[in-house]
Amino acid sequence: MTEVIQIDRRHPDPEAISRAADCLRRGGLVAFPTETVYGLGAHAHDRDAVRRLFAAKQRPPNDPLIVHVAGVDEMRSLTSHVPPTAGALAERFWPGPLTVVLSRAGSVPLEVTAGMDTVAVRVPAHPVAQALLAAARLPIAAPSANLFSRPSPTRAAHVLADLDGRIDIVLDAGPVDIGVESTVVDLTTVPPTVLRPGAVGVEQLRDVLPDVQLRTKAVTSRDTPLPSPGLLSQHYAPRTPMTLYPRTPSAGSESFVAHVREVLTTGQRVGVLATTEDARALRQLPVVIAELGSEAQAEAVAARLYAALRELDASEVDVILAQDFPTDVGLWRALRDRLRRASARP
Ligand code: TXA
Ligand code: MG
Repeated sequence: MTEVIQIDRRHPDPEAISRAADCLRRGGLVAFPTETVYGLGAHAHDRDAVRRLFAAKQRPPNDPLIVHVAGVDEMRSLTSHVPPTAGALAERFWPGPLTVVLSRAGSVPLEVTAGMDTVAVRVPAHPVAQALLAAARLPIAAPSANLFSRPSPTRAAHVLADLDGRIDIVLDAGPVDIGVESTVVDLTTVPPTVLRPGAVGVEQLRDVLPDVQLRTKAVTSRDTPLPSPGLLSQHYAPRTPMTLYPRTPSAGSESFVAHVREVLTTGQRVGVLATTEDARALRQLPVVIAELGSEAQAEAVAARLYAALRELDASEVDVILAQDFPTDVGLWRALRDRLRRASARP
């Protein structure tokens, strides 16, 4: 049985938090909100708990976990070497949606790091996550609280859809703030490398890490260990096959609408992941539309993306069609990355 505990994000009930913290301490699995997506937490030093976490998610053991900590001091105890850049990033972006990859301290179980000598760490900003970390006084290993390769959960209902009966507790504090995962930056490489674009834009990172590079090599499931499996070409994906159309710079919605009409002629039931602008152009067509928000508002689109993918899955369409976003600036880089992975073939 999975227990769902409603919790007020502004005033997390200490009683509820302490029950969840006890559960973690005893090796249980607790889903909790972070500012990016819901995470599925386990005591990071408890190997059995971490193994159960992988089993609950059906996550392959070669995909390492992010360890969530309360602050920079706790980060230090997880790593054998803290480069000055880690301090500078922490100062600027923590608490917040940035994950740093550092060299692993011997005390961090290899189950957490998928056998690697590095460990990923972040300090989440969500008040419920912070309350849980403070009460548990533990590092919490927490991947996104979804079944492996599915869209990440941005609400407690998404967690339950994937993991009901497989985990102990869900702390339900309503929808998350951001809706895409943290940016993962590897500080063990020279220069540092962005392994996964996320909520912190590359432009912002460059303020602190002027030489940061983007990882471009495609990663397949045959790579062992996976350098960062969030980079797997297929990930964050709906069950329904999804086709992503490139955006022709000046065409607006026209070429996309033409593609949608063409697919409709095959008799398939069509779902469309659409910006508000595209949705307007598609309104006359017999399609299921999941609207994302305006092309002018990356934050709104981020907050809707995974929920929209899940809605289209639930609507039992045969195919999901989407048009790429027009820019890579800021949050859009992460959003385009997720569209590509959601539509990639396994
Ligand atoms: O926003 C987030 O990061 C959310 C919330 C819950 O914090 N967590 C999340 O975790 O997205 P997960 O497990 O779904 O994605 C973690 C990513 C994966 O792509 C994983 O491969 C990468 O971080 N990662 C973890 N440890 C790593 C390491 N030692 N080296 C390289 N990549 C690592
Ligand atoms: Mg994930």
